[in-house]
Amino acid sequence: MKKPPSESRRNAPTVLGIETSCDETAAAVVAGGTVLSSVVSSQVRLHRRFHGVVPELASRAHLQKIAPVVGRALEEAGLSRTDVVAFTRGPGLVGSLLVGKVAAETLARLWRCPLIGVNHLEGHIVAAEILPQGGQVPGGRRLRHPFIALIVSGGHTDLILSSRPGRYRVLGRTRDDAAGEAFDKVARMLGLGYPGGPAIDRLAASGDPAAAVFPRPLLPGSWDFSFSGLKTAVFYRLRDEPRPGPRRVADLCAGLSEAVADTLVRKTAAAARRFGVRDLILGGGVAANSVLRRGFLALESEGFRVALPPLSLCTDNGAMIAHAAGRMLAARSRRPRRRSLLAVDPSLPLRSWGCWG
Ligand code: KG4
Ligand code: ZN
Repeated sequence: MKKPPSESRRNAPTVLGIETSCDETAAAVVAGGTVLSSVVSSQVRLHRRFHGVVPELASRAHLQKIAPVVGRALEEAGLSRTDVVAFTRGPGLVGSLLVGKVAAETLARLWRCPLIGVNHLEGHIVAAEILPQGGQVPGGRRLRHPFIALIVSGGHTDLILSSRPGRYRVLGRTRDDAAGEAFDKVARMLGLGYPGGPAIDRLAASGDPAAAVFPRPLLPGSWDFSFSGLKTAVFYRLRDEPRPGPRRVADLCAGLSEAVADTLVRKTAAAARRFGVRDLILGGGVAANSVLRRGFLALESEGFRVALPPLSLCTDNGAMIAHAAGRMLAARSRRPRRRSLLAVDPSLPLRSWGCWG
């Protein structure tokens, strides 16, 4: 039996979120932090044989999928339209972003409703507030400022300080491979297929990290990251011991996962101490990694408060984009002497209240 809508949901606008920045065509409907529907069409099978995303193929697949994915998201939410439309405006692959942007603009014009462009990284940050489908954002789960967010995905390893809503300062980012990219490249060396992160995570569970210790690239004096050396270290191990058996592969996966997670956790905690921040947020596809999640949660015993996204919302999805837009609107409507959110001129395009720098 469907639960009756909560007070916050009944008063909150419904937001359609469209995400097409990379290789997932995704759409979701969110209202007041409640996920009414979330549909993700993954292109993993399309890109698998290239061991990475081919931009032109990605754009073409988005073109094919965008209408059915949006249609299903609306249908599953039981709606024929929403009050607001949001889309990922960047960063991402330009051809892929364009497909989502044009779809969102078209719907916003058709429905004469507000249109909001969302920063993809902001989406990954607020995903930690969302509960899986049907769930609701409870008060205690609200992100508290100031916080430090670590966004780790196939394209990003960004350490971000947010001192107040809408303000983001990138403290450091990767100088070479992103964390997910390092997992994907090592998985390729080990013959584990693409994307490699989930496979490495699975195998690491039965391996011994002490049997395959890798260096921690901490880059003292900088908040930046560098993971290309780890990939090279695995390459040399495999040169010295070619054709490792399943147990050895599991050890290598465990050792690599520990090295990546330990580096990420230590640098995030060091930044939090340096900036006097207690609240930590993890986001992005690699936030699904079990060693990293454990490492982050362990920081709670040191007095930090840790927010992790649900596993289903770590990789790219429309719910995080819709929720980010819903938060912006709620913040705007709370501000005095401003017009109410639904009075926003529908022809106002691409407004962004986020500030990155
Ligand atoms: O956020 P996302 O869907 O796309 C980007 O914005 O890049 O992240 C995809 C990345 C891939 O590199 C994939 O290998 C990695 O997230 N990933 C994982 C796990 N699940 C996905 N890495 C480590 N452990 C996992 N469980
Ligand atoms: Zn992403």
